[in-house]
This record gives sequence, structure tokens and C-alpha cells, in this order.
Amino acid sequence: MSAILVAVDGPQAAEWPDALRAHAKTRVVHIWPHAIGNPDDVAYACVWNPPHGLLAGFPNLKAIINLGAGVDHLLSDPTLPHVPVARVAHADLTTRVTEYVVLHVLMYHRRQRLYDAQQRERLWRAHDQPAASEVAVGVMGLGVIGSNVADALGRLGFKTAGWSRTAKNLPGVETFHGKSGLDAFLARTEILICLLPQTRDTEGILNLALFRKLKRGGAAGGAFLINAGRGPLQVDADIVAALGEGTLEGATLDVFPQEPLPLDSPLWVHSMVTVTPHNAGDISPRLFAPEVIAQIERFERGAPLDNVVDRTRGY
Ligand code: NDP
Ligand code: OXD
Repeated sequence: MSAILVAVDGPQAAEWPDALRAHAKTRVVHIWPHAIGNPDDVAYACVWNPPHGLLAGFPNLKAIINLGAGVDHLLSDPTLPHVPVARVAHADLTTRVTEYVVLHVLMYHRRQRLYDAQQRERLWRAHDQPAASEVAVGVMGLGVIGSNVADALGRLGFKTAGWSRTAKNLPGVETFHGKSGLDAFLARTEILICLLPQTRDTEGILNLALFRKLKRGGAAGGAFLINAGRGPLQVDADIVAALGEGTLEGATLDVFPQEPLPLDSPLWVHSMVTVTPHNAGDISPRLFAPEVIAQIERFERGAPLDNVVDRTRGY
């Protein structure tokens, strides 16, 4: 039976091989970097951020399963073998990112930073509280995750809009698309949420010129940014500048152009910035491993993989 290679970089590196082995029955599971075995035996690679060039060393590879949603790292490998690449589009991951976004939208909406500061001063003071229905949130990227986030925010009562590459029709969400739809989307958005993939078209999109197009003076009390998409979409210096000039009132950043965020980055200590270590969403190996193995078994019986990436599109 064809073997699986597991090549995972990051905190889940130890968990994935055990989780996959628990369901792989008699199939051999090789582990990068210490137990690669004979590369000729490997037909399936289950990977997260593998080093560029690694997968080219497996001549009999039939499919690659990316153990996350974003495929930017994988597709930027110029030696990536020409076999199907499948990615994660699973409720576990979608729900976790949705939790993250809802948490931070509510933090801005309910002015939690202000109340934290007041608590440190033992200050008992209530401030005006707009209704969610008065606050305009906007989601960039209406894919598997972004559309779920837009739905969740709509259910909480926010005025919800979304922007995508192609036109969408989502109940309760005002939709905009393409370059021609971007300015109108920004002009009505106070809390901007980015759930775009990293592509040539999206890199650097979160810049000062874009922040200046957001709606200010609305019920949210200014414009806010939440980026849980990819770091290279944002220009860190422009976020600091936008906060300094009052264009942005707050920013929640889960991803950064350079990760881990360098120790000397001003974002670490900025009073209006929340930094998290690229963990808005994780997929649980325990929950997803059975699906990976089932998918490989179906593929061997002639069925296509789930969620195959369109390489020409870049995500
Ligand atoms: P999908 O591929 O399902 O959705 C991507 C969305 O982005 C689509 O709606 C697409 O539009 C839109 N899009 C792509 N390019 C453009 C563009 N140039 N202009 C406008 N819209 C564009 O991805 P997911 O929802 O599964 O994931 C989104 C991203 O979230 C991932 O790529 C990853 O980078 C990030 N992520 C981050 C996590 C974290 O822990 N921080 C966890 C999981 C994901 P259309 O539908 O019209 O093609
Ligand atoms: C992903 C991520 O893309 O965790 O899945 O960033």
C-alpha cells in the first residue's frame, strides 16, 4: 500500500503523525525530517509549510494534502510537483476563525479596551453604547471562512457587507466585488475584517491609502482593522501611521509579513493594537486526520480529492 509522508512545520508537528497513524490502518506513515524512509514509496504528502524543494524529492507522489486553508506557502515553491493539491475547508477551522473575528469585533464594538483601562483606575463609568445594527462591518474575502464570518456577524445584528473577486449572493450580506467594487465597500465599512488569501493581487492591499477610504464618524467611533488572512497583505508601517493620524482607532493582527513578529516591531507595544501569534484558526489533527485518510482511500478508488486548489488562480 502506498505510503504517506507527513511534513508539518510548527506547533502541530508532533501531533499530526500520531493522529494520521491512528487511522491509517496498515499504511506506512513516514515523517519528515527524521523518518523519511524510501522516497519512492511515498504517494501522498500531508503537509503544512514544508521547506521548498522537499516534495520534489518524492518521484511517485500522487497528491498533496495541505493541512491548513492557505496554500500560499505551498504554491510559491517553484519545484512543487504537478499533482493535485487539496486544502482544508473544514467546519473546525472555519468555526475557530469565526470565533476569533467575532471576539475582536465585539471587543471594539463594546469598547472593551476602554473598560479594561477604567478597571485599572477603579473607575465606574458607563459610556454610550450603539446598537450592533448601527455599526457597519465589512469582510474582505467571502470564501469558506469569510462567508461564515459574515453570516455570524449578521446574526449578531451588525450591518454586514463583504467583498470578493467574483459576485456573490449571500442572505443578509451586502456584497461588492472586484476592483471596481472596493471603494464603495470601504466607504460604508467601519470595522474591516480581512480573510483574503495571499496572492499577487492581494499582497500589500491593507495599506494607508485603503485605510483612509474606510468610514469614520459612524456609530463604531472610528475605523478598525482585523486581519486574520495573511501577513503580507498588510503594510505594518502603514498600520502604525494610520493609528497615529486617527485613520484607524484600533487593529487586531493575527498575521504579519514576518512571523514570528520581530521583537523590535512597534506593534508589540502599541496601545491600540492586539497581536496574536497566527492562531486565529487551527485545525485539530484529532478531528481532521480521519477525513484525510478517508479522502486518500476514496482517491485510490477513483474519486477526486475534496477542495482541490486551482493553481492558476493561486488560492
Ligand atoms: P477561500 O479560497 O474559500 O476564499 C477566498 C476568498 O477570497 C474568496 O471569496 C475569493 O473570491 C476572495 N478573493 C481572492 N482573491 C481576491 C481578490 N484579488 N479580490 C477580492 N477577493 C478575492 O479561502 P478560505 O475562506 O478558506 O480562507 C481564506 C484565507 O484565510 C486563507 O487563504 C488563509 O490565508 C486565511 N486563514 C488564516 C487562518 C489563521 O489562523 N489566521 C486560518 C485559516 C485561514 P472569489 O470567491 O470570488 O474567488
Ligand atoms: C491556515 C492557517 O491557512 O492556519 O489554515 O493560517
